[in-house]
Amino acid sequence: MARRSQAPGQASLGGAAVSIRNLSKRYNNFNAVIPTTIDIESGDFFAIIGPSGSGKSTLLGMIAGYIDPTAGQIVIDGHDIVPEPIYRRNIGMVFQNYALFPHMTVAENVGYPLRIRGVPRDEVARRVNESLGMVRLDAFATRLPSQLSGGQQQRVALARSSIYKPSILLMDEPLGALDKNLRDEMQEEIKRFQQEMGVTVIYVTHDQQEAAFLADRIAIMRDGSLTQIGSPRELYEHPNSRFVAEFLGEASIFAVKAAIPSGPGQTRIVLEGGTQVVIRGDKAAGPGKFACIRPERITVGSGAATLDNHYTATVRECLYTPGSIRYRVELAGTGDMMKIRVLPQMNTEFFETGTQVDVGWSSSDMTILKD
Ligand SMILES: Nc1ncnc2c1ncn2[C@@H]1O[C@H](COP(=O)(O)OP(=O)(O)OP(=O)(O)O)[C@@H](O)[C@H]1O
Ligand SMILES: [Mg+2]
Repeated sequence: MARRSQAPGQASLGGAAVSIRNLSKRYNNFNAVIPTTIDIESGDFFAIIGPSGSGKSTLLGMIAGYIDPTAGQIVIDGHDIVPEPIYRRNIGMVFQNYALFPHMTVAENVGYPLRIRGVPRDEVARRVNESLGMVRLDAFATRLPSQLSGGQQQRVALARSSIYKPSILLMDEPLGALDKNLRDEMQEEIKRFQQEMGVTVIYVTHDQQEAAFLADRIAIMRDGSLTQIGSPRELYEHPNSRFVAEFLGEASIFAVKAAIPSGPGQTRIVLEGGTQVVIRGDKAAGPGKFACIRPERITVGSGAATLDNHYTATVRECLYTPGSIRYRVELAGTGDMMKIRVLPQMNTEFFETGTQVDVGWSSSDMTILKD
């Protein structure tokens, strides 16, 4: 609550915790956001990813205050902010289209939030300098937005959204308009910036790599609800559905036809084409479930035959890309197709399309998805 007793425009210490309780948004008969409950810790970098139309911007808009929730609360530092207008929320916002004022210089743009809060001129000037330093644009203070590159404009927007030291920074596809190299550079910048400010960030992106690079936790949104929340590693290694497994990274996924307990802590499952596979554990396996394995968990060529699941296969596709070799192989006798990714080293074998190869994986590397 300390934040609330400060004068407008005064610095706050670090980020605020955000607790979203049964928050929902309904347009006529359409549920854009289904009642959602989520706790975001102070100083967390929390990313939301999901397909177009899944409700990401709607959720962010309700937190920012320009979309009225149908029901629910947004509790910040113990206080429900839903009844509060945008300007009382102490939340910064950065959008994809930087929305800079075209007739104002960089310095005027960045200082704007302080001027409308009645902060004295010399204080504004001092903090504009500091903010421009943070995004490394000191030398551009007197330029107009039209005289800057896309990445520079986005850094101005970042400086402007954070100059009044909001305790929460919302970003909706902030790098969506930038090309790949600039995105990579800006990701580093945003991460450094967030760590220096200690601000809580809620960050929407389409890009799973970007989310994994930036975020402490990622929520995957689908049809108005958060289907799974976890660290990038948890989501990648323990997806709970086909949707999540496919949305975050690549995977080979098969319907499970049958499951037979086979020894302590092991189950033999039968994949759609008839391939028999031993997996660790047993509880979740059975018809109606799905088996999933990540492409880098599969060994191809020498070494495969020593693993507890190993097969002969035919290479149906091979693709060399910088940093990895990708295969699609068909298991002999069953036709089950596996996606494989190999990180090439000095003596890595390369198998052409049509070649017969050994493939294998450990029983602990295939996981069961509930749907
Ligand atoms: N004012 C509105 N009236 C009716 N439906 C709306 C309105 N605003 C958004 N929607 C619908 O709510 C759903 C969620 O929209 P939202 O903008 O949150 O999606 P999103 O996940 O941000 O998508 P994108 O990745 O394309 O930005 C969409 O199906 C959209 O059509
Ligand atoms: Mg959106």
